[in-house]
Amino acid sequence: ARLVVLVSGSGTNLQALLDACTDPSYGASVVAVGADRDDIEGLARADAAGVPTFVKRVKDFTTREHWDRAMAETVANFDPDLLVLAGFMKLVGEEFHSRFEGRIVNTHPALSPSFPGMHGPAEALEHGVKISGCTLFVVDDGVDTGPIVAQRAVPVEDDDTTATLHDRIKVVEREMLVDAVGRMAREGFAITGRKVRFGQ
Ligand code: GRF
Repeated sequence: ARLVVLVSGSGTNLQALLDACTDPSYGASVVAVGADRDDIEGLARADAAGVPTFVKRVKDFTTREHWDRAMAETVANFDPDLLVLAGFMKLVGEEFHSRFEGRIVNTHPALSPSFPGMHGPAEALEHGVKISGCTLFVVDDGVDTGPIVAQRAVPVEDDDTTATLHDRIKVVEREMLVDAVGRMAREGFAITGRKVRFGQ
């Protein structure tokens, strides 16, 4: 399967996928990496792996819709089977939904449907939950609301800060991402209502 990965930051989830894809039996390869900003570690990781990259910054376009269209067109040129948002901090818009419906996955550092949005680890601490975790979901037009592909639990420790909790979640998140994307690539998947299952 051909993967295009979009990133906005450190790209440790991307790195986990790049590493997994070096094994031919994984069943997928990263054909391009895109970002909404330059000078991020995620792009350097793609360069180091010899994977083509592209950057489109919202501020270089007259409207958000123009950015969305340009980004989606560039992604489409790489003909992905699956588009993986891996720490991509922008919501994708209509052009993405129409071109890649049901083929975009995103990873979120909380157990959906709890704590959607940008502050999953901080909100888990504020609410005093004892278990948080991470979720891989198929992107729909809401914020972190799409059908769930995989989830893993991570216990919250009494002395956790947002940073320590997020760091421990990210370790598990990378394993979840690699495992679930590999299964999607090798086995296929079907979405029925809100349920995702692997297999044809
Ligand atoms: C991940 O926890 C992702 O779920 C969140 O931001 C983090 C990205 O980390 N939205 P990285 O860029 O893959 O290291």
